[in-house]
Amino acid sequence: MFISAGAAETEGAGARLAEKIKAGDVLALVGDLGAGKTQFVKGLARGLGSNETVTSPTFTLLHEYRGGRLPIYHFDFYRIENLTALWAIGFDETVFGDGVSVIEWADRFGEAIPSQARWIRFEIASENQRRIDLSALA
Ligand SMILES: Nc1ncnc2c1ncn2[C@@H]1O[C@H](COP(=O)(O)OP(=O)(O)O)[C@@H](O)[C@H]1O
Ligand SMILES: [Mg+2]
Repeated sequence: MFISAGAAETEGAGARLAEKIKAGDVLALVGDLGAGKTQFVKGLARGLGSNETVTSPTFTLLHEYRGGRLPIYHFDFYRIENLTALWAIGFDETVFGDGVSVIEWADRFGEAIPSQARWIRFEIASENQRRIDLSALA
């Protein structure tokens, strides 16, 4: 658990984690709107060496970032209504594949998250501070 003092620090934490990430890893991100989940994924993509723009896959539900050491599959469960919708976007094929899967709002469909996933929790502590729990990665 640590306190990030700004968006750049949260992004930096994602970039550092990228050094340790392996093919097939699944990161399940949990935290309210604005807690820094997408900011963290930006760092992850940068750390893996992708130059693609990272944004919340709110409407498209899945974004892919290539050009780095491993492909990243970025999901956001916020607007996914049910498990059927999740299967329809190919969640299972992707999450059990060889890329890195990162899922925002993973707790909305926790039952769909593979058991080997690492859960990372984000909380808003103040306007610019975020409490980030990376203990599942220790
Ligand atoms: N310490 C911090 N870490 C991450 N984001 C921060 C921090 N402080 C302020 N922010 C701001 O909070 C917002 C976080 O947004 P975002 O990463 O999209 O959150 P989420 O994906 O969890 O909804 C951004 O506008 C960012 O600039
Ligand atoms: Mg987001």
